[in-house]
Amino acid sequence: MEVYPNLFSPLQIGPLTFKNRIEAAPGNTGYNTEEGFLTPETVAYFEMKAKGGAALVVIGESNVHTKTGVAHGRMPCLDNPDILPSLIRTTDAIKRHGAFSSIQLVHPGRRANADYYKGTIYGPSAAPPLFGGPIVEMDEDIIAEVVEAFGDAAEMAKLGGCDMCMVHGSHGWLLHQFLSPLTNHRKDRFGGSIENRARISLMVVENIRKKCGPDFPIEFRLSGTEHTEGGYTIEDMIEFSKMLDGKVDIIHVSCGTFHDPKTNVKMFSSPFCERGLNVPLAAAIKDAVKTSKVAVVGGLNDPAMMDEIIASGKADIVAIGRGLLADPYLPKKAKMRKADDITPCQRCLVCLSGDFVPYVKYPTRSLRCTVNPIIGREQEAMVVKPFEGRKKVLVIGGGPAGMEAAITAADRGHEVVLCEKEDKLGGLINFSEHVPFKIDLMKFKDLLIQRVNERAIKVMLNTEATSEVVEYISPDVIIAAVGAHPIIPNIPGIDSEKVVLAADIYNKNVNIGDNVVVVGGGLVGCEEALYLAQHGKKVKVLEMKPEVIPDGAYLYREALLLEIAKYPIELLTNTTCKEIKNEGVIAVTANGEEKLYEADNVIIAVGLKADPNDTNKFRKYAPEFYLIGDCLKPKRVLEAIRSGYDAAMSI
Ligand SMILES: Cc1cc2nc3c(=O)[nH]c(=O)nc-3n(C[C@H](O)[C@H](O)[C@H](O)COP(=O)(O)O)c2cc1C
Repeated sequence: MEVYPNLFSPLQIGPLTFKNRIEAAPGNTGYNTEEGFLTPETVAYFEMKAKGGAALVVIGESNVHTKTGVAHGRMPCLDNPDILPSLIRTTDAIKRHGAFSSIQLVHPGRRANADYYKGTIYGPSAAPPLFGGPIVEMDEDIIAEVVEAFGDAAEMAKLGGCDMCMVHGSHGWLLHQFLSPLTNHRKDRFGGSIENRARISLMVVENIRKKCGPDFPIEFRLSGTEHTEGGYTIEDMIEFSKMLDGKVDIIHVSCGTFHDPKTNVKMFSSPFCERGLNVPLAAAIKDAVKTSKVAVVGGLNDPAMMDEIIASGKADIVAIGRGLLADPYLPKKAKMRKADDITPCQRCLVCLSGDFVPYVKYPTRSLRCTVNPIIGREQEAMVVKPFEGRKKVLVIGGGPAGMEAAITAADRGHEVVLCEKEDKLGGLINFSEHVPFKIDLMKFKDLLIQRVNERAIKVMLNTEATSEVVEYISPDVIIAAVGAHPIIPNIPGIDSEKVVLAADIYNKNVNIGDNVVVVGGGLVGCEEALYLAQHGKKVKVLEMKPEVIPDGAYLYREALLLEIAKYPIELLTNTTCKEIKNEGVIAVTANGEEKLYEADNVIIAVGLKADPNDTNKFRKYAPEFYLIGDCLKPKRVLEAIRSGYDAAMSI
């Protein structure tokens, strides 16, 4: 019997027959040249998504009219014909794998950024400066010019091999700015009623149709709601969708607006949001339209859930962003009955945060994914290359780094032994079993264990890698993944019974009282504060630095802070723990006072430290030796996975 029959049923979009209902949501890379030409790295990134089995791959935000606005650096510019060779190479690579290619047309309007654009900044209405000079109201001549530019850009996209295009009418860019009462205060035919606020979008769609003809499908991305007080609602978007109905082929439903940064973590949903958060919005629009198809995006990565969305008629297409970074082969795996091998996106927001202009100081222009070590170097590492010959590889430590190394080494044809001193694999990330907002980390951990077990890897649990064990195994290669030790600050009272180390709070034998002080306001300390508060504790977090979570990815930090704000958690920065006493913690506060913070328990979350003595002793036992994960340098799961993968690829 066919699996996920709805998800894998074909769909006719104008002249295009989609092979399934999966769209690779628009996504940009920072890999382009300064002029916005797509590079071989960009080509590989989009090709990877097509190779994974999506029916449609959408190249992300591309400028339509650089003369009147640019938001980021290195965006493809569809008003420059010199883009064509690189665009054609990209669309060729997408189409080679049976996917259709599309590109997203965007004008930034009032969000044009003076770092990348020196001209007048235009918006629907005049406003004080945002990312450059004052915002000037677009007059009808400029509106007409921009409308023409959208049509011209679509023509350029068509010439560049795109099978269709996507108009970006969401997330707070120009067309969204016109739709929103928060940014559109006009009194003319472009402001006021929803008909007027929608006018420019409809003119854009008509212009594209006029220039590209009926056989060039148009997808229109809108935010189903702004999630913001005073912003537009789903009712407005239902009305707007009725206006778009039949004029565009697909109405694509996202949510939120950059205008209100609090909505960023719904637009790019965090682990604190339900998966498929935009499905009710899409369903409401689907109910209201007769001709256009409806696509929905937002936290989707479970084939069964996506199949149900299509089956129940809530949407016709599911669009996946981050899920296809975590596992570009999600569509193929689902179709081949290998859904249980899909690597789950963590929604950790690392992929988006590095380049989150203008909120980050310097865009890294490098993609990273916590669970997929290939992201950011798609071109060089698209396939696991088999090794000619076979070495005996001993991996010491079965945490995420060790498991990833063992899996990759086995896939490259090596004989692998994995030694773990505990009675189960998982290492430090076993804590995820206790924390509801870490459910995806638990799934990832379980998947790594499954992958280890599916391969011919010899797993030795309850086995400390003593010299006898290592000599007995007699490996050609040793990969040490033994982890690190908690840093224990040298303060009076640290030996008190009240003190619990961060990693131990989940231990069922440890009872945590109602009043808790967490020492250390980094990612771990703040996540633990949230976990404890969710269990009814009153928590204070003491952090020496001027801000908490300096080690968090920008957007995840935002999401975590919004979540923390819902609970009785006090974040005390510039506050240094001086002594732990029977009543609690004595700390020096931001204004230099000494203060007692009462606590039943004091959690120490000031980080981990690698000890070279744990690993140097293994060096002599094998000619090839690698350090990975926390014993190389304590960092995130991302670095653990990459170092494990890299070591195994280097053998
Ligand atoms: C690396 C990255 C780049 C993105 N670039 C764009 C873009 O250029 N245009 C856009 O509309 N959305 C962009 N998005 C947002 C996605 O299209 C999608 O709406 C969002 O990630 C939510 O879907 P998801 O939960 O499946 O990831 C990007 C997302 C990621 C992860």
